[in-house]
Amino acid sequence: MTETWEPIYLSAKVFGHLSQGLYRTPAGAIKELISNSFDADARLVKLHTGFPSFETFSCQDNGKGMSEEEFRRLMNRGIGSSYKRSPTVITTELGRPVIGRLGLGILSLAQICTRFEIISHHKVSKTAFRAMIKFPPYTRQEMDKIAKKALLEDDEIHGGEYQLVEEQYDSAKQGLRVFTKYLREPFRKRMRNISHLGNKIAFGKSGPYKTFDQFLNAIYNPKKPTQSLNLLSDYDQLIFGWHSPHLFDFLTTEILQ
Ligand SMILES: Nc1ncnc2c1ncn2[C@@H]1O[C@H](COP(=O)(O)OP(=O)(O)OP(=O)(O)O)[C@@H](O)[C@H]1O
Ligand SMILES: [Mg+2]
Repeated sequence: MTETWEPIYLSAKVFGHLSQGLYRTPAGAIKELISNSFDADARLVKLHTGFPSFETFSCQDNGKGMSEEEFRRLMNRGIGSSYKRSPTVITTELGRPVIGRLGLGILSLAQICTRFEIISHHKVSKTAFRAMIKFPPYTRQEMDKIAKKALLEDDEIHGGEYQLVEEQYDSAKQGLRVFTKYLREPFRKRMRNISHLGNKIAFGKSGPYKTFDQFLNAIYNPKKPTQSLNLLSDYDQLIFGWHSPHLFDFLTTEILQ
């Protein structure tokens, strides 16, 4: 990795979304990553949750990847640009209806870590790069203050920094890999807190479910039909909460502890 850190520019509007914690749950952030893999025509996504200490988290896909130019554009006012917003459904090369609309999903990572690394092997240009992205560890209050000031002054915000180095392209590594670093302590705490496991709520038992049926019973109890995944721990939500039948049709997902 070279020593030069380059600034990331965000609009005040985008920063405001960030400060409001647009993506509040860890499961929500993971869903953003998987949606991006889907849009990139990946057929396989591998997630490493880092259970049980939750020190690292990674998401790796075999989609088309991203070129260095696309990445730099994203870092330079590209985040939050609504170029894809359109009333008609856009489809990918494989004919999938594109999920991404706002260009904000990638920011969801800022909610769970202060740094992340992206490694991309881009199918079309046959080039590869590795980039480290760093977000300042602002508190919610600091972010609110900066966003307010920037909105008043119609200012641009220096939202963090990134470093990029080119890598040797390898077709076997085609796709995008995201590795989180410096996971925020509140995220890790939430993930480690399994006191809200459905097992405990539904059966009064601590520890993991004995069978998958028990898990299903924990989230769906005919006597209490209002039960939902929202009652479960963040870890349970991460493992089971992002599933959508729409994604299931196209993607194979391996979730590895
Ligand atoms: N796994 C991936 N493979 C290839 N390109 C990706 C991947 N993840 C992100 N990108 C690129 O980064 C861009 C930004 O992603 P981001 O999730 O922030 O926005 P989006 O998907 O366009 O919209 P949304 O905010 O609705 O998710 C994407 O438009 C895409 O070009
Ligand atoms: Mg997205």
